Amino acid sequence: MLALMQRTLAVLALATLLLPSIAAAQEIGECITLTPRRPGLGIPLHTQAGVNSWEGERVPVDSIVTVVQTHDSGWLRVRFDALEGWISTRYIGDVVPCLTTTGLIDTGSSEQVCRIATWNIEWFKDGKSRGFPELIGDEALPARTSDDFGFIAKAIITMEVELLLLQEIHGDDIEVEGEWVAHSPELERLISILNNQSGATSWDYRIGTTGRDQRLAFLWDTRTVGLEWWCEAALPSDRVNGKELFDRQPIVGMFSCFKDGLEMNDFIAVNLHLASGQRNAKNHDMAMQRVLEWIELERGQDNCIPSDELDIVIGGDLNASRFDTWDEDFWDTMESGSWDVLADDTTYPGTRLRADPPGSLVSTIDYLIVSKGTGALQGDEVTMTHGHVRHDLLALPSISNSALTFRLRASDHMPVTVDVRITDDTD
Ligand SMILES: *[C@@H]1O[C@H](CO)[C@@H](O)[C@H](O)[C@H]1NC(C)=O
Ligand SMILES: *[C@@H]1O[C@H](CO)[C@@H](O)[C@H](O)[C@H]1NC(C)=O
Repeated sequence: MLALMQRTLAVLALATLLLPSIAAAQEIGECITLTPRRPGLGIPLHTQAGVNSWEGERVPVDSIVTVVQTHDSGWLRVRFDALEGWISTRYIGDVVPCLTTTGLIDTGSSEQVCRIATWNIEWFKDGKSRGFPELIGDEALPARTSDDFGFIAKAIITMEVELLLLQEIHGDDIEVEGEWVAHSPELERLISILNNQSGATSWDYRIGTTGRDQRLAFLWDTRTVGLEWWCEAALPSDRVNGKELFDRQPIVGMFSCFKDGLEMNDFIAVNLHLASGQRNAKNHDMAMQRVLEWIELERGQDNCIPSDELDIVIGGDLNASRFDTWDEDFWDTMESGSWDVLADDTTYPGTRLRADPPGSLVSTIDYLIVSKGTGALQGDEVTMTHGHVRHDLLALPSISNSALTFRLRASDHMPVTVDVRITDDTD
């Protein structure tokens, strides 16, 4: 399998070499992407235009660089952070919006939203090879490098997301002043990269205590979202279809959105990862029923969910497809009740990348579900009817050569996002 991937990449690299340069003239001050000839290797920066000797500095492949000088040869002098140098024409990609000084892409959009993502960052643990269930043994994908962490940070910043519901995150428990606290070394490292890229110490996280090495976590940007409190469910976890209902307990957070530093509307986020494996419809139905009953119970008792809070988003890896033949009942039960599954027909695309053929999308298992009805999210703060499966990330510069690189560097799952309009709090 890996041999096939390498061949595919080699063919792609060759195709890039043979293609004539079709880049339009770039202007000074514009920002461009880079087109690497193979993933992982940075783009060489030369000291003189048109001269191929190379001093040893490289820009990371997924960078967006600013053009600072042009040359008759077509080479461009570019700047990326503190680095500056000439790049040859073969690496020149597309003109794109520049990153602002905060590291965010300036889209010029005026309406302010809280953007929420669900993302299973496959086996986010140092030293772990990945690829289950397709790529095992010799074919398993290597453990992530620190460059891969940078790539994941770049994906998060590109999505302009303020809160992420993450699955498969490594965490362990440490004793702090006599109390056991769950923490994640990997998320802490990712946060240091995010903070570095955004130029502010603004990212924070919480991780659940259950699920052994693959837990659930919240990750958010404190500049735009605040955590009010969070809790972890303790639902009875029977074995159904031979699998625990909850290998990891759902985690629930109450967050509020900020506008110009003021606290505006708040909402409850429920992060779920249902049982993996095949033919789990009965397991998934029972798990979802328990989660929904738990939400009602908590709200009824004014416990983890305040009794008047109607804005709820459930997100996660449900390992269930709304569109396959192993029909879970919960989709339609929820839709006919007070929930809107943000995926109504097969225009909702695949969310998981499989390995064979490399990078193809196979299953549609990651979802966002929002509360609906008077005072709830749908129709008021949320107007999207489908979650946004972030296939745009597959076009990030460093992975111009396929979804396979996304899987190698980030995950077999694509993130899905939904926008919550920032408005006065009505509940
Ligand atoms: C922060 O970013 C700069 C510029 O990209 C880089 O040189 C530096 O190593 C980064 N620091 C950390 C701690 O990642
Ligand atoms: C659920 O996960 C298993 C791997 O554990 C996978 O084989 C199966 O196809 C997934 N279900 C769906 C609907 O994709």
